[in-house]
Amino acid sequence: MGFRSMFMKKLEISCTLTVFDSVDELSSEQRELMVKAVNVRSRAYAPYSKFKVGVAVKLENGEVVLGSNQENAVFPSGTCAERVAINQAGTLYPDSKIVSIAVSAASDNFAVLTPTPPCGSCRQSIFEYEENQKQPIAIYFMGEHGKVVKADSIKDLLPLTFGKATLNLI
Ligand code: THU
Repeated sequence: MGFRSMFMKKLEISCTLTVFDSVDELSSEQRELMVKAVNVRSRAYAPYSKFKVGVAVKLENGEVVLGSNQENAVFPSGTCAERVAINQAGTLYPDSKIVSIAVSAASDNFAVLTPTPPCGSCRQSIFEYEENQKQPIAIYFMGEHGKVVKADSIKDLLPLTFGKATLNLI
């Protein structure tokens, strides 16, 4: 046995997600939020990818803030729907905690049947809000129709986090 293997150990990280067969299995409040996310997909400006994402953010004060992806001819200048919505929620209601986020994605080119989770950058942005508010944010995501997946916290989608705590700021 070499020196390295004597000290090496493996960590297993587990994440828990809940899968619903359709929006019909959600509570009426969650279904309404997801329907808003589905409807706002039509506001996406996605002439390049033709991939349209809609997001609805529910706040503790009862407000719902919407977002859709907004692309740009300079591709990296576009913004995902999740960040459009969550940053707008932070702008409009900085003192209200975020309770849940619903995400729905569809494409003009193919049927999006797999539930579409937030991309890595959006997970990082959502984590910043969750860390600041010290309360988990539930994330519901789906494709065009069909199954809905729920994460109780962004940590179930981003288990190893880099945030203020990493920088020793909290
Ligand atoms: N997109 C989102 O809006 N959210 C995600 O989490 C992943 C991707 C958008 C960005 C771009 O406009 C299109 O989907 C294709 O990547």
